[in-house]
Amino acid sequence: MSRAFTLEAQGIRACLGRKEILHSVNFTAAAGRVTAIVGPNGSGKTTLLRAITGEIAHEGSVTLNGLDVNHLQPWQLAAIRAVQPQSSTIAFPFTVLEITRLGLSAGLSAADSSIPIRALEAVGLGGFAGRMYQDLSGGEQQRVQLARVLTQVWEPVVSGKPCWLLLDEPVASLDIGHQFTVMDLARNYAAHGGGVIAVMHDLNLTAMFADDVVLMDGGNVVTQGTPTEVLTDSTLAQTYGCPVPVNTTPPGHIPFLLPQARVQMASRSI
Ligand SMILES: Nc1ncnc2c1ncn2[C@@H]1O[C@H](COP(=O)(O)OP(=O)(O)OP(=O)(O)O)[C@@H](O)[C@H]1O
Ligand SMILES: [Mg+2]
Repeated sequence: MSRAFTLEAQGIRACLGRKEILHSVNFTAAAGRVTAIVGPNGSGKTTLLRAITGEIAHEGSVTLNGLDVNHLQPWQLAAIRAVQPQSSTIAFPFTVLEITRLGLSAGLSAADSSIPIRALEAVGLGGFAGRMYQDLSGGEQQRVQLARVLTQVWEPVVSGKPCWLLLDEPVASLDIGHQFTVMDLARNYAAHGGGVIAVMHDLNLTAMFADDVVLMDGGNVVTQGTPTEVLTDSTLAQTYGCPVPVNTTPPGHIPFLLPQARVQMASRSI
């Protein structure tokens, strides 16, 4: 794999307050693929994403398309990678289009002013441009934020180099239909040569849409590989602390998980 088409994090150690949260994490994602970061609450997924994006101080190196991110100017980084945080609070009254257009000023796509509207349509928010952001539902606001990051790096490949979407729980507030819309967008971006890294909690969606899975626990990467390699009964039981039997679909052999423990509890008499 050419390093010109990867995001590589090596030896990432990060402290928040007095506590070391990430313990020398190594992690590689390839352009053209969807990489999911999964793991229990508090395992360090968001912290890893924030370290990768330089939002928090850390030890170790991060290279993007083969370049040390410390040697790139903020505007150069903004042109090749866009970040959707786990949550976003907008304190002032902006319209949906104004929020989405923020992506234009950050990225390289400023030349084409039609992109924000196209991005809103892509996330199922055509017709929402003039609405006030604060008046939207949680899931609608989350999709506006995705439209903003899509606007920033609209073209998956620029001058032969991949662009990157870094998404922290992009489907957390979405209904099942819009979960598929967003995961299809991610797949499509990767299919056209871009890189996608998405923090996910839904392991079934992860199995369906991710090419690679990074499983974190306690500030470490437990394992990294294809969904079939990573999503196994024993690994999940150990990491999540509950039995999560993994099955496979007959035609595609895609792993799927049934929350068996819950079914047993529901049928148990109290
Ligand atoms: N500012 C902070 N100061 C101290 N500890 C923090 C701070 N921010 C996060 N932590 C701790 O770091 C650990 C990792 O947090 P992180 O947000 O990376 O988890 P996560 O895997 O993204 O979890 P979730 O699935 O709940 O979003 C947690 O134990 C959290 O309590
Ligand atoms: Mg998180």
